[in-house]
Amino acid sequence: MSFRTQPTPPARPNRCQLFGPGSRPAIFEKMAASAADVINLDLEDSVAPDDKPQARKNIIAAINDINWGDKYLSVRINGLDTPYWYRDVVDLLELAGERLDQIMIPKVGCAADVYAVDALVTAIEAAKGRTKPISFEVIIESAAGIAHVEEIAASSPRLHAMSLGAADFAASMGMQTTGIGGTQENYYMAHGGNKYWSDPWHWAQAAIVAACRTHGVLPVDGPFGDFSDDEGFVAQARRSATLGMVGKWAIHPKQITLANDVFTPSAEQLTEAREILAAMEKATAEGAGATVYKGRLVDIASIKQAEVIVAQANLINGK
Ligand code: COA
Ligand code: MG
Repeated sequence: MSFRTQPTPPARPNRCQLFGPGSRPAIFEKMAASAADVINLDLEDSVAPDDKPQARKNIIAAINDINWGDKYLSVRINGLDTPYWYRDVVDLLELAGERLDQIMIPKVGCAADVYAVDALVTAIEAAKGRTKPISFEVIIESAAGIAHVEEIAASSPRLHAMSLGAADFAASMGMQTTGIGGTQENYYMAHGGNKYWSDPWHWAQAAIVAACRTHGVLPVDGPFGDFSDDEGFVAQARRSATLGMVGKWAIHPKQITLANDVFTPSAEQLTEAREILAAMEKATAEGAGATVYKGRLVDIASIKQAEVIVAQANLINGK
């Protein structure tokens, strides 16, 4: 490890973030009753421009009136290139109660975007005597966002989480696709007359995970648009979990169980992690730094890998 040790991210489950448009209050109670760890009420792109003022009112009433249980409650504001975002922040911080946990900032392109929202939030919190600091989640969904991903990850102590937003990201990058995440038909290797599909989101996800892990932020995979394709969702979520992401968005309630299943370590993964820890404990007691577990090498790095899985399981079980 470098002299600068890696900070731990916020210790809360973030396996699934369920989205719902602020202009559709009829689903808010259903969202609160769902099995998602995080709720994202949306003021941004799922709300038409004329509906923004009413959506703000709906969301503020819902924050104050609905029993959100132990959900982490987040509102996605409008982007900093719109005329809406400042009113979103002012109304939320002045009119919504302390139950609000987080503001999600979309289309962040540089650390100064987060700084601007932080300055406004900090001033309103002080003016209104709010006692619970609001946390931030940002969405990386532009060329600028991914180019500046590390400075964004380091931008504010309020920053808890960072998501990849595949659709806006694809548009900003000029990618030739209209799909929201998942397999892209034309992204393949050809060999021996066969096609082998590859993952065009991989590099952006890995860049986000590295920036997040460096600065103690939770890396999250964003939306998977085709909610009739469970197999595609699960495959995408498994790749994200393998890369180090902690959860994924649900844009339809049927995706919640899929995400929770993938991002909860399975009984087999947990047993194996515990057996590796036990094997290494025995090896260490015998003065060895490495040993053999099921015919493969395990060493001191394996302890850290196993501890990631045990810590994730403990976090979820302690929920
Ligand atoms: N959260 C909770 N419940 C939801 C829901 C959501 N996001 N979306 C739909 N439901 C409910 C419906 O009300 C319906 O409930 P019912 O069985 O009691 O009638 C049930 O789930 C099935 O809904 P369905 O008819 O399949 O979907 P729909 O046509 O009503 O809505 C979407 C589909 C995609 C428009 C809707 O899920 C949605 O708005 N998703 C979020 C979009 C969003 O926020 N995007 C921004 C981030 S990318
Ligand atoms: Mg977007």
